[in-house]
Amino acid sequence: MDSVLVAQELRKRYRGAQRKGRGDALGGVSLSIGRGEIVGLLGPNGAGKSTFAKIVCGLVRPTAGSALLDGHPVGSRAAQARLGYLAELFRYPPWATADGLLRTHQRLAGADGGASERGELLELVGLGDAAEVKVASMSKGMQQRLGLAQALVGRPPLVLLDEPTSALDPVGRAHVREVLKELRDRGQSVLLSSHLLPEVEQVADRVAIIARGRLIIEGRPTELAGTGGAEFDLASGIVRRPELRREDLPAEVARLVAAGEQVYGVRELRGTLEEAYLRAVEEHGGDGRPPAAPAGGDR
Ligand SMILES: Nc1ncnc2c1ncn2[C@@H]1O[C@H](COP(=O)(O)OP(=O)(O)OP(=O)(O)O)[C@@H](O)[C@H]1O
Ligand SMILES: [Mg+2]
Repeated sequence: MDSVLVAQELRKRYRGAQRKGRGDALGGVSLSIGRGEIVGLLGPNGAGKSTFAKIVCGLVRPTAGSALLDGHPVGSRAAQARLGYLAELFRYPPWATADGLLRTHQRLAGADGGASERGELLELVGLGDAAEVKVASMSKGMQQRLGLAQALVGRPPLVLLDEPTSALDPVGRAHVREVLKELRDRGQSVLLSSHLLPEVEQVADRVAIIARGRLIIEGRPTELAGTGGAEFDLASGIVRRPELRREDLPAEVARLVAAGEQVYGVRELRGTLEEAYLRAVEEHGGDGRPPAAPAGGDR
């Protein structure tokens, strides 16, 4: 697949981390994003998701490893011109209007879409009526929608969204999912960092889970979720058999019938991404937090 981002063995150790008894924030993460692909980046608090996004943006310099965006090293002007970024903790000037903020970002990005691009973007994120509203009088959710519009200025090939729906209500979240699908249809790629697993499951083509700075699992959400066993509707009631896989079902039905059971129905159960996530993170040391500093160490 044609990749927009190729990150290889990215490592980050923040200054002072060793003194504080912390390890690497990223311990060698390789991850690619295809053109027109939505990749979900998941992981416990402190796993390194934002660090990864900040390296791709050029806000944080990796200690080792490399990342190329459309062939340009991240942090270079050429790479920065090819991405849009909505930070996890964003704050826009309170005096700016929605339209004014987008205008500033058009200027910064050298985007020449003018008023029509600004209007379309505000419309896209559901702020069509709020062009002249100031950030100071916007709700948190409105500000986050504006942040999404800001990240899309100039139609960048890669859009990095760090928890873009944390302030949105369920309708707003569903709306953002539609926006992300539209970006994909246009051939733009998205790196979506989130803790909202059902949301990621619905929209991501591929999911990468990191824990303690390492990529622990990667794949399509349906592959990772796998099966959750099967449910048999028998004369004695509903029987759940979590260990069975889809391919086991015909033989199991035959066995039950041969044993004289009345089988009224069989239902394959789908696993969820959340279950797969919890399993994977548990296998890799639980909460993903770095080990505590040794007793007596400085704090
Ligand atoms: N500027 C910084 N200086 C020092 N350490 C940092 C800095 N930013 C992040 N860290 C540390 O790096 C590790 C990874 O942090 P990061 O913000 O990338 O995690 P995250 O996966 O985005 O977590 P969350 O889900 O809480 O947003 C954490 O241990 C964090 O304390
Ligand atoms: Mg983060």
